[in-house]
Amino acid sequence: MVATRAAYIFSTSISLLLLIPVALAKDHHTHGTSYLERGSSVFIEDDTTTNTTTILASPNGLFACGFYKVATNAFVFSIWFHGSSAKTIAWTANRDAPVNGRGSRLTFRKDGSMALLNYDGTAAWSTSTTATRASRAELLDSGSLIIVDPDGRSLWTSFDSQTDTLLPSQPMTRNIKLVSASARGLLYSGFYTLYFDSDNELRLIYNGPDISSIYWPAPFNQPWVNGRTTYNSSRYAVLEQTGKFVASDNFTFDASDLGDQVMRRLTLDFDGNLRLYSLDATSSDWSVSWTAFRRVCDIHGLCGKNSICKYRPKLECSCLEGFEVVDTSDWSKGRTPNVNKTANWDNRRRHKANSTATQDFSFKKLAETDFYGYDSNYVQQVSILQCRRMCWTMLIAKLLLTVREKARVIQRSTFLTARALHILPTTFI
Ligand SMILES: *[C@@H]1O[C@H](CO)[C@@H](O)[C@H](O)[C@H]1NC(C)=O
Ligand SMILES: *[C@@H]1O[C@H](CO)[C@@H](O)[C@H](O)[C@H]1NC(C)=O
Ligand SMILES: *[C@@H]1O[C@H](CO)[C@@H](O)[C@H](O)[C@H]1NC(C)=O
Ligand SMILES: *[C@@H]1O[C@H](CO)[C@@H](O)[C@H](O)[C@H]1NC(C)=O
Ligand SMILES: *[C@@H]1O[C@H](CO)[C@@H](O)[C@H](O)[C@H]1NC(C)=O
Repeated sequence: MVATRAAYIFSTSISLLLLIPVALAKDHHTHGTSYLERGSSVFIEDDTTTNTTTILASPNGLFACGFYKVATNAFVFSIWFHGSSAKTIAWTANRDAPVNGRGSRLTFRKDGSMALLNYDGTAAWSTSTTATRASRAELLDSGSLIIVDPDGRSLWTSFDSQTDTLLPSQPMTRNIKLVSASARGLLYSGFYTLYFDSDNELRLIYNGPDISSIYWPAPFNQPWVNGRTTYNSSRYAVLEQTGKFVASDNFTFDASDLGDQVMRRLTLDFDGNLRLYSLDATSSDWSVSWTAFRRVCDIHGLCGKNSICKYRPKLECSCLEGFEVVDTSDWSKGRTPNVNKTANWDNRRRHKANSTATQDFSFKKLAETDFYGYDSNYVQQVSILQCRRMCWTMLIAKLLLTVREKARVIQRSTFLTARALHILPTTFI
């Protein structure tokens, strides 16, 4: 405790010292833009009337950057759309590590790096401009925050670090991915990623706790069937000012409101869907002007293990028979075998393993159902009889494992039984 206290006092005294040179310079002589000078710091002010504290604004007034309050006493350093009614965030420095509202600060250190420091002086985020000629930070009309040297050469730009949103003219390259937020209204990194894959194709992947599974473009098609090419290794994509998106793998789309007078953003949403949004200048609200998925159930990981996704027209997840929900507040955590059934089966198994199992588990055919990422086997064409046989073979192999592992085995077998039936159900003959 003593150490913590000492550290706190130390940082407080440092803060007091820094209060003096704090300078939010406004330069009306060069480009008419405001900038943050090397050596200056800005403290978070927890103003209850607003969730945003502007540090810099872009000359065109469309973007602002500063502190954004994400929860009580939790702040991020962000760039947001100044003209949108919700102050929608376009980029965040520390999405997974918000800082405390008291005593935290953005500082453009004397060593040339810009950092977001927590109240105790630890850096939640910093730029890689240490020991450069970094002289000031500016927010450009494009929405990119840049750090430049005295000659105006860019040393760092926020366009090079990923969030969930791509702005017009922001290049998407081999190093830049879009990572979804974890839930509606939250900034934390989620499970979905838009990226250039090793074969040069732009893809969407679900990187869940248990599985990793590509879901866009249609993963079982050859590239040319999806209108893609794998031969261009420049791995470059951009949303043009007009609302046209072009990628080096030949993927392209147009905004429904094509034209260059509209403010847009391409966001990989928390639900794994990639959407282009256009800002309505009169209402200051966003409308969707393109979307990767109309049938959201084709997106992997939405409902989790052992559940069935339906879209009519709201997303619904339902349990497979014999399974129950793990967490009612989060469907994506999936389903687990009903405890009751497992217990019954366990009791009887002590006497007659093979026959009782048949009584406790039934086989069911589910039309047009696929369990992305959870297949226990894959067969092109199979009769229901063969399918059962395959299932039993797997089940029995599991049962023959050591008694010690019994509890776990039973759980997994239950899962296997329910699963194996769904191997390409539409191709049953
Ligand atoms: C600040 O954010 C909270 C929760 O995110 C929201 O309920 C509130 O309306 C916001 N306040 C303002 C002034 O925007
Ligand atoms: C990619 O697009 C260009 C221009 O539209 C076209 O000429 C070319 O044939 C396409 N490449 C492939 C492999 O489809
Ligand atoms: C590869 O992609 C880049 C970037 O989109 C483009 O400029 C270039 O013309 C493409 N090369 C070929 C051979 O299509
Ligand atoms: C077993 O299931 C029945 C009905 O489905 C329920 O009433 C009972 O409480 C369950 N027992 C246990 C131990 O979960
Ligand atoms: C269950 O039946 C299979 C053959 O169908 C047999 O190989 C296996 O030993 C049996 N298991 C037990 C526990 O009796």
